Amino acid sequence: MSVFRSIIMAEDLCISNGSKAEKYQTLLPQIKSLIEGENDLIANLANISAALKETFGFFWVGFYLVKGEELVLGPFQGPIACTRIRKGRGVCGTAWAKAEMLVVPDVDAFPGHIACNSLSRSEIVVPLIRENGEVWGVLDIDSESLNTFDETDARFLGEICSWL
Ligand code: SME
Repeated sequence: MSVFRSIIMAEDLCISNGSKAEKYQTLLPQIKSLIEGENDLIANLANISAALKETFGFFWVGFYLVKGEELVLGPFQGPIACTRIRKGRGVCGTAWAKAEMLVVPDVDAFPGHIACNSLSRSEIVVPLIRENGEVWGVLDIDSESLNTFDETDARFLGEICSWL
């Protein structure tokens, strides 16, 4: 095998064809090894977005980063999205303001939900929190189906975000 081929293969993502929990269990160590040798934040957020999108086929996966009083769009995978969200606005801005994870089974039932794309039906937002409790960004994942996200997503996505 050539050196070039082995380098390419090192970047291939292995995806379990089992349950959602098994998919996450296969994915998490790969994400950990992708990011632990790299200290560039944008590179790591980009690869995490891509790995989640590739594993689960979610409609939209991405990060918003706190800049002043707004969340600004960061690395993502999926259709174009809103670039700025004010604190306390929408699901993302609410997760920031409350510093807590939000699982939204039906976005139409969430007061103030920001519809970046009309196809989005359910959503999970995980805040990225510093040791001092300050929120510095959020991970946002959108689905085209209702009720996509549950305790399993909350647990594994929370763990991924705790590594950042
Ligand atoms: N729906 C989000 C906005 C971001 S997009 O879904 C990518 C919200 O209500 O905060």
